[in-house]
Amino acid sequence: MKQIFDVQTPTSSYPVFSGSHPEVAIWEVWRERWKQAALITDRNTARFAKRIARSLRSEGIQVFEETFTPGEASKTRETKADIEDRLLEAGFGRSGCIVAVGGGVTLDLAGFVAATYMRGVPHVNVATSLLAQVDAAIGGKTGVNTPHGKNLVGAFHHPRAVLLDTEALRRLPNTELACGMAELVKHAVIADAGLLDDIESASGRLDIDALAPLITRGAHIKARIVAQDENERGVRRVLNLGHTIGHGIERATGYRVPHGEAVATGMVVEAQIAHRIAGFSAEQVQRIAEILSRLGLPVQPPVSFESVAAHMRYDKKTKGSAWRFALPERIGKMESAGGEWVVEVGADRVAAAFEQVRADPSLKKSFG
Ligand SMILES: NC(=O)c1ccc[n+]([C@@H]2O[C@H](COP(=O)([O-])OP(=O)(O)OC[C@H]3O[C@@H](n4cnc5c(N)ncnc54)[C@H](O)[C@@H]3O)[C@@H](O)[C@H]2O)c1
Repeated sequence: MKQIFDVQTPTSSYPVFSGSHPEVAIWEVWRERWKQAALITDRNTARFAKRIARSLRSEGIQVFEETFTPGEASKTRETKADIEDRLLEAGFGRSGCIVAVGGGVTLDLAGFVAATYMRGVPHVNVATSLLAQVDAAIGGKTGVNTPHGKNLVGAFHHPRAVLLDTEALRRLPNTELACGMAELVKHAVIADAGLLDDIESASGRLDIDALAPLITRGAHIKARIVAQDENERGVRRVLNLGHTIGHGIERATGYRVPHGEAVATGMVVEAQIAHRIAGFSAEQVQRIAEILSRLGLPVQPPVSFESVAAHMRYDKKTKGSAWRFALPERIGKMESAGGEWVVEVGADRVAAAFEQVRADPSLKKSFG
């Protein structure tokens, strides 16, 4: 692994490493005073933590391993409490560091454990899914879902370091790879038109080697935005592109639609909203839909607007009766809306854009 950049925010600074062998890179960030390690993984990512556990044990660190059932349904207060109780019982204390190894679900959950365990212990993120590498691992947002909505309980708690295990991506199923590409497309639409061109050219052959430079660029965009607005009071809101509709789709389908797929569909609907109210061009809406489709992602909502809207009601980004959307002005540039970075849009206009995308025969014809 090599260090690719530092994330710098007003309250913290931490390195991001990328490549193979996180069990070696972890020593670049391990502190003498951390005598214990709690490795938190889901069942699919436990294998990527094995070498890290061995490496830490070989230097006399006491290692605890906690594993939970993979999937969004595990990102709950209940799973968090189970992990905490087991760690307390095992004697994991304040001299320890949590090492989260996995995708966004593991990182969000383990980071939240770290934020509150004994009033806060340090953590390191080892990202094994593409989605986590370009997005979830960076920025310090941790949390869990509740019956009222996604990520509604959580904390800002920055990791001490982020390790992007690009070798692990070789084991990642293609559908999950595509989910990560959705967040990468999102970063490109938000901030880097050239990145979208490169994703477009690479979309036919998604091999890990071709992806490595794109991952670095995506992770860097996330880090740059977080550096400007650590606590999401302004520009960080642009990272929610596709997520207001996307979260509604995830919840309306009982999380059967994975996060990345929901964001892909949400992005097309929100681009359509931007077309209707903010002058984002129809050609660019079509282009985003085509790129996502070519990556194997769904672009048409699988459920009605009514069912999605019912679940968007509790989204934490809403204010009053209108929904708030981060909208693109053009590819690579978001609407600043006077520094708010979100625009309030009434239900009628959201419904019209949603139904237009849902019924658009050209999307069906071109992308099946
Ligand atoms: N904190 C943030 O800033 C932030 C940003 C974006 C998304 N998120 C959150 O991230 C989550 C989605 O992340 P995700 O898509 O990584 O979900 P995930 O963690 O559920 O991973 C997807 C699936 O891939 C498996 N997996 C992960 N790495 C693997 C590998 N190398 N080989 C084989 N299987 C592997 C996982 O076990 C899981 O089954 C959502 O909960 C979302 O809210 C958080």
